[in-house]
Amino acid sequence: MPSTCNVVVLLSGTGSNLQALLDSLQADNPVRIVAVISNRADALGLQRARDAGIEARVLEHQGFAGREAFDAALTDLIDQYHPHLVVLAGFMRILSPSFVRHYHGRLLNIHPSLLPRYKGLHTHRRALEAGDAEHGCSVHFVTEELDGGPLVVQAVIPVQSSDTPDTLAHRVHAQEHQIYPLAVRWFAEGRVCLGDHGALLDGQPLPACGHLIRP
Ligand code: GAR
Repeated sequence: MPSTCNVVVLLSGTGSNLQALLDSLQADNPVRIVAVISNRADALGLQRARDAGIEARVLEHQGFAGREAFDAALTDLIDQYHPHLVVLAGFMRILSPSFVRHYHGRLLNIHPSLLPRYKGLHTHRRALEAGDAEHGCSVHFVTEELDGGPLVVQAVIPVQSSDTPDTLAHRVHAQEHQIYPLAVRWFAEGRVCLGDHGALLDGQPLPACGHLIRP
């Protein structure tokens, strides 16, 4: 990995994970966010980027004939910035296989559950309905399987009997803001990469659950 790691962030909404990444960029951090791209013009995350002096671009998906066409245009836009890494931070679109293949090994996602549990939406409600004692969030390399790529890091928190989906979401979100900057930094430092059989940390295979953090 070169001395700086160019990162493009994709998002659709609030961008609190983008903010956590921005807040982690002290002088010794090799991560350099070169652009933030949203499929929604009204995403608050775009303003966070502008406030930080980072280029904020909009590519709305409505104008395209289909997923492949949008993803091809998105690839062209992303590649203008020559990123070493593309970070999905609440980018609420399913990505086409060709998009995922194009960024193989340099595409990370954060998901609000302990994968492989609760892929998809409404993860907090589903964890409560299942009576889970623990819940959390996961950072993983993106592969063609939705929310299914090799895990890099998970934060595990206890579920409390008084929890609602909102209270649980709030606590999980706070953990996302810890583990995403950590995983992105590990990638930028060359410590984490995607090997043939899964994610590696410092050259060693990570367990299937990734590096576990219990705050
Ligand atoms: C986060 O909770 C993230 O885990 C989730 O969207 C939220 C974005 O929040 N992503 C997914 O559900 C992807 N499957 P943010 O805009 O405040 O960063």
